[in-house]
Amino acid sequence: MPQPTLVIKGGRLVDATGVRSGDVVVGDDGSILAVGPDLDAPEVLDAGGCVVSPGFVDVHTHLREPGKEEAETIETGARGAAAGGYTCILAMPNTTPAIDSAAVVREVLELGRSAPCDVRTSGAITVGRAGEQLAPIAEMAKLGVRFFTDDGTGVQDTRLMRRAMEYASALDVVLAQHCEDDAMAGGGHMHEGEWSSRLGIAGQPAEAEELMVMRDIALARLTGARIHFQHLSTEGSVAMVRAAKDGGMDLTCEATTHHFTLTDECCATYDAVFKVNPPLRTADDVAAVRAGLADGTIDCIATDHAPHTPDAKEQPFDEAPPGMLGLETALGLALTELDLDLEEVVALLSWRPAQLLGVEDRHGGPIIEGRRANLCVFDPEEEWTVDADTMHSRSRNTPYAGRRLRGRVRHTLLEGEPVLRSGEVTR
Ligand code: DOR
Repeated sequence: MPQPTLVIKGGRLVDATGVRSGDVVVGDDGSILAVGPDLDAPEVLDAGGCVVSPGFVDVHTHLREPGKEEAETIETGARGAAAGGYTCILAMPNTTPAIDSAAVVREVLELGRSAPCDVRTSGAITVGRAGEQLAPIAEMAKLGVRFFTDDGTGVQDTRLMRRAMEYASALDVVLAQHCEDDAMAGGGHMHEGEWSSRLGIAGQPAEAEELMVMRDIALARLTGARIHFQHLSTEGSVAMVRAAKDGGMDLTCEATTHHFTLTDECCATYDAVFKVNPPLRTADDVAAVRAGLADGTIDCIATDHAPHTPDAKEQPFDEAPPGMLGLETALGLALTELDLDLEEVVALLSWRPAQLLGVEDRHGGPIIEGRRANLCVFDPEEEWTVDADTMHSRSRNTPYAGRRLRGRVRHTLLEGEPVLRSGEVTR
């Protein structure tokens, strides 16, 4: 018989079944043993004034290991994830070497085993993410990989993408696309528009993303493949996905926190912390992404957590690599900036991405007896100031430094263990 180890006391429970109050007792087998009023256990985790929800799930995390451990390791990225309320993250494959074989998949999963977050990995669609030859998708799928992407770049070759879709359908895996037509985007360092003209920085037009969204919707129709669009950033992309879903297509997409909070005007500082791919867009695009999150066109919030060393980000705008941190600010940004009910925000951070990744057996599920205790406890009203220096990531490239946010994670439980306790990462 599992023994109770701790009780989360005095919180408001929010999950896909609704909202209620109650204490949650967790057992030494990592499961939820009981949910109800006035429960006791040897250790008490205070959830007064807090929401208790299923842990968050990020479908888009760059962990940099193997290859760029000076920017992030699986361990440091997972610590940032725990601090942000995440209990499951999906590693992107643009490491060195790329995650494009069973050997590298095994290495990443092994490195993630002791991390304070459930680390899953995606696999590359093409060998070396070079866009020329299909990667051994079946071999990686055998190890449990369910999400394939060349993220960091899109698959340019239409014929190869069609083949990947046919192959993926047979294996019942999801193909995720970083939508960017290289021929259109090449040489652009920010969104092409009024601000790129004013600043004299080469731009990439919204159409560079939209052409690939359009192409892949057509290919998915042709092949019947289940596709997912990563980090959609333009009004046109959101409109195309909405129309495709209205027409009955089974496809999903994500939006990042930066694409619903920042615009291309930020680049006027010439600070490369605002350089990201796809680039920050216009206020109209931000409004469209917010509308897409509100009406269900966009299935989940992703971080696209992309750590880069200070040396890399201190280069001139057109030389610095794209990407920004996201794991530790996602909840605060969503609660502060989105005009959505709390339950909607938690759905977008937790059970929707959990279903999308197929990890709902362990993550994102209802807070009931018998489920795994992968949980997040956050104060939706606590105000705090983002401080790059106190982040758990090995890198510092947050575009939100100094920003006031409302909503902060207090505790995160991974398989019943508090890996974040009163704001301190403990593993
Ligand atoms: O801004 C980005 N950074 N976009 C990507 O697609 C890749 C990522 C990275 O790996 O740094």
